[in-house]
Amino acid sequence: MTRLASRWKGLTSLPHVDLGIVETPVEVLPHLSKDLMTEVWCKRDDKTSPLYGGNKVRKLEFLFGEARARGAKTVITVGALGSHHVLATSLFGKQAGFEVHAVLGPQAPTEHVRENILCDLAADAKLHIVPSFAFVPPAVQALNLQLRLLGKCPFIIPAGGSNDIGALGYVEAGLELAAQLDRGDAPETRAIYMPLGTGGTVAGAAVGLAAMGITAEIVAVRVTAAALANRHALKKLVYSLVSRLQTHDSRFPDVRDLALRNIRIDSSEYGKGYGLATDAGRDATARAARDGLIVETTYTAKALAGLLREARNRYKGEKVMYWHTLSSADLSPLIARAPVVPRSVQRYLDAR
Ligand SMILES: Cc1ncc(COP(=O)(O)O)c(C=O)c1O
Repeated sequence: MTRLASRWKGLTSLPHVDLGIVETPVEVLPHLSKDLMTEVWCKRDDKTSPLYGGNKVRKLEFLFGEARARGAKTVITVGALGSHHVLATSLFGKQAGFEVHAVLGPQAPTEHVRENILCDLAADAKLHIVPSFAFVPPAVQALNLQLRLLGKCPFIIPAGGSNDIGALGYVEAGLELAAQLDRGDAPETRAIYMPLGTGGTVAGAAVGLAAMGITAEIVAVRVTAAALANRHALKKLVYSLVSRLQTHDSRFPDVRDLALRNIRIDSSEYGKGYGLATDAGRDATARAARDGLIVETTYTAKALAGLLREARNRYKGEKVMYWHTLSSADLSPLIARAPVVPRSVQRYLDAR
């Protein structure tokens, strides 16, 4: 695979650590296309890195860049027990030479969650589990203080890596897709479906695509609570992102309104809550498997379910895209190397 060809010079001159991301292909999903009588294309961000793909590594290139620019050798981040963001931070943090601490809140302990925890431990991440999300901010503050007393100066990465630094990774991804459309390596589609969790993926992609004049509808399938993932939060993120880009390079276009206009939030797949399986998600999982695509309960099954629900009626005979944000890297060698799970962690994995 080729190294990113589409890297905008302005982005590379922002603080940035090269984590070896490759340009991800856009491929047709033949079985889903036949079922829906609509061409379904997939942006394969599961392949961003052979170490661990998915959406998080793109954000981490910029977050680690900023951490390094500030002289930090330690990072603290947060997430739910089985957080993909925490796992990516653990793996790539180790690769980039950071000590990684993660404060984790509760999540239904599925097998996927358990495997992610094992990989965090195999990557030497220090896990600090709290019994409720309400305890996460004070736990981060306490940990920050504790590490400072030890002479470290930790850099704090927010949930999902979604701030105006992390989301730069998805601006770059938007530019990458725009370049693929331009070269004919991907088709123009009416809509692009992706999960909406903490918002950095959607906000960044919307800004990157809008900057290249692409007006496809970005359907942000909400998988977290509306208090976290909503239009206001996306607006704040898009505004701060464009402002950061324009401060860095005044030629970056003011695409705030266009980017926001292109985003539609779809809340129909949320179901009973974050991380809880839905029937539509189960159906999407089975259908995706026939095209060799593995999705998981919390994010990607629900995003794909949103596409399945709408595509046949809205886009019959047209083209739509699903942006796949879950890693497909094989984690079994890491899982095999994982140390014994400490009792303090195991009790959260046993809880049902
Ligand atoms: C596989 C996967 N897809 C999508 C998302 C959502 O991305 P964001 O938090 O940027 O909205 C996440 C977030 O953890 C994720 O793990």
